[in-house]
Amino acid sequence: EAESKKKLLLVGHKVLVTAGPTYEAIDPVRFIGNHSSGKMGFAIADVLAAMGADVTLVTGPTAQTSKQQNIKRVDVTSAAQMLEACLAVYSDAKACIMSAAVADYTPANVATQKIKKQDGDLTIELKKTTDILKTLGEAKREGQILVGFALETNDEEMNAITKLQKKNLDFIVLNSLNDAGAGFAGDTNKITIIDRELKQTSFDLKSKEAVARDICDKVAQLING
Ligand code: CTP
Ligand code: CA
Repeated sequence: EAESKKKLLLVGHKVLVTAGPTYEAIDPVRFIGNHSSGKMGFAIADVLAAMGADVTLVTGPTAQTSKQQNIKRVDVTSAAQMLEACLAVYSDAKACIMSAAVADYTPANVATQKIKKQDGDLTIELKKTTDILKTLGEAKREGQILVGFALETNDEEMNAITKLQKKNLDFIVLNSLNDAGAGFAGDTNKITIIDRELKQTSFDLKSKEAVARDICDKVAQLING
């Protein structure tokens, strides 16, 4: 009974989840990317779908697949494409959980032909990408829930709190790369959730599925009061 009630907590709500890395093209055969596996975002999308939410999962390049059926998957490659896909669904979304590892910089010019090797070294000029989460935070409406991630190696709590406030989030999931068993490719994660009141909740090291349940429980609490 408790379990079936929990499952229905998000029925009737549209939610947006981002996952994976973005790839920023240098030329037709090369890109700048990062080590995100997409596991965390896919696990979150599965949990939200199991709770009855109408999930849109915007994902960068990844080998992950969803376990739940009722997930609208939008595949993108670059940060610019991810921004566009998020903006297309944002106004209808009750909650957004932005777990993608979006590239912060993208080549200023994309070569149309493969760049040939020269005698000297190569310098690639980079320009900043749009911060998707910050853009959504600036457009946030009353009652919308916005969740971000912070991947940090140092000054973790301070950096996470700065992001929480700068991006107008309801809570931020702090992922410390210093914790053994936490991070990109593995199946486990250790998180701390920091909310708007700066209340910190630290969770044990657990599977990414279990971490996803903790994050989604917090989202459901905020939505349902
Ligand atoms: N994010 C985003 N768009 C970007 C960069 C980041 O939406 N262009 C989101 C991520 O999905 C994550 C949060 O912002 O939820 C924090 O990402 P992170 O890389 O930790 O922080 P940055 O603000 O990019 O700062 P830095 O990389 O310098 O720590
Ligand atoms: Ca970043």
